[in-house]
Amino acid sequence: MFIKRINTIIVLLLISMMGCNTKPSINQLGLVPLPKSIDVSTGKTILTNLWGIQHNGGHHDLETLTAELSSALKTTYNLNLTGESDQSIFLNVDSKNQALGDEGYEIIISDAGINMNSSAPNGIFYGMQTLYQLLDSGVQLESGIELTHLTISDEPRFKWRGMHLDVGRHYFDVEFIKKYIDYLALHKMNIFHWHLTEDQGWRVAINKYPKLTEISAYRDESLIGHYRDKPRRWDGKKYGGYYTKAEMKEVVAYAQTKYVTVVPEIEMPGHTRAVLAAYPELSCTGGPHTVAKLWGVHKEVFCAGKESTFEFLETVLTEVAEIFPSKYIHIGGDECPKDRWKEHDLDQQRIQAEGLKDEHELQSYFIKRIEGVLDGLGKNLIGWDEILEGGLAPDAIVQSWRGMDGGIAAANAGHEVIMSPTSHAYFDYYQSEDKENEPLAIGGFLSLEKVYEFDPVPPGIDPEKEHFILGGQGNVWTEYISTPEKVEYMAIPRMSAMAEVLWSQESDRNYENFSTRMDWQYKRFDRLKVNYRKPN
Ligand code: ACM
Repeated sequence: MFIKRINTIIVLLLISMMGCNTKPSINQLGLVPLPKSIDVSTGKTILTNLWGIQHNGGHHDLETLTAELSSALKTTYNLNLTGESDQSIFLNVDSKNQALGDEGYEIIISDAGINMNSSAPNGIFYGMQTLYQLLDSGVQLESGIELTHLTISDEPRFKWRGMHLDVGRHYFDVEFIKKYIDYLALHKMNIFHWHLTEDQGWRVAINKYPKLTEISAYRDESLIGHYRDKPRRWDGKKYGGYYTKAEMKEVVAYAQTKYVTVVPEIEMPGHTRAVLAAYPELSCTGGPHTVAKLWGVHKEVFCAGKESTFEFLETVLTEVAEIFPSKYIHIGGDECPKDRWKEHDLDQQRIQAEGLKDEHELQSYFIKRIEGVLDGLGKNLIGWDEILEGGLAPDAIVQSWRGMDGGIAAANAGHEVIMSPTSHAYFDYYQSEDKENEPLAIGGFLSLEKVYEFDPVPPGIDPEKEHFILGGQGNVWTEYISTPEKVEYMAIPRMSAMAEVLWSQESDRNYENFSTRMDWQYKRFDRLKVNYRKPN
């Protein structure tokens, strides 16, 4: 009996000693996106309530970040740090420490505590996201959470790590917009591309043009089922909504606390039927027009021959620039049919007077004038790849969506580029080939694995021009996405794959490893009650 008990104790001791010496594999740490360098050693440290949180005062954001860390430790990990022991989580910003760039960070977990170093608060924020993930995969003990000793040195591959949301086809309230920004932040994404205006609804309050919110923000009814269904069915319900300036500023301020830049998109010259319903004098025909209720591309577009169009847009963009501190404003530029311009004498006169070859050059004239307006406002213009047609505006940034050829051409011509091709970045596409068992979507098929295979720097870009690729972005168009739950279903977990594409080193990418690490990510999504699509 006694011998047996001794044996049991020895075995238990051996197991616990082995435990002390085991190093978890990198995939067991559950980090998404994968950091650039992880050096795991054998020691362990237990984060307990007796630890403190300190910072070096290297940036004024550190007070807020410390408070956020303390609150997350309490609410998510049940750790109420009192600072009674010598150990602490130390947040250290040193602007002279440029080894890991503006957004990089280092985490060192050792017997001395947890040290987080960066050159700017962004890095500390990303380090905190990594720390949360380490706490998820750490060993949960009665006394606290046991973490393995390690050093992580991390920085993103790309500086543009974006997610888009179309709020024109369907409107999402500020509460959900903030949640969406939270999802970006936990993925270390830093750009929220807010697609604010569409044929089917204008969502931005503009003081000078009140009819934009009285008329353009509402359509008479919405389609039930798919565009291709015949006969088409309608729900008979007026639909719409808009954001007040105070709400948009609230979103911007919220995003700033998550180190996310909000880039507004105001579409022109096409996708503008909602505007023309309120201000028909800005169209070629003079109207009357209605806010579109059918999805797709519409022929009514801004008249490029009338000066009043440019006066209207200058006012709108000036008010938009006051709301959004982002140095970028997206002006759309995609899918502008030229039918009306071909028929209209003022547009034809403009072509003549400006010595333009055709309506494509008229579109280019339009975008270049708008670039001049944005220049005056101190902003850079971004447009979808159609802005290449007829000649690119001098400093325009191109967002490539019809494949990557537009982006390749723009980068080779010395323009900055954001890659978001339909092939890898359209999260409104089906997530399975078994479409019958998926909620209705616009079409296409884009699996998680395919998103993961995305390379924003495709062959065909001159090596010395690769730096023009700012990064990439996932796009969520919402014709068939009318609720926050469905946005979550379509965007997540494809957002996780995109985040790893944009943050992690290409040489480290491995779908199998990613899938293992995603098991932790799914647990996080469960905890946050995200309606993500569960993997098959
Ligand atoms: C787009 O998908 N029309 C940019």
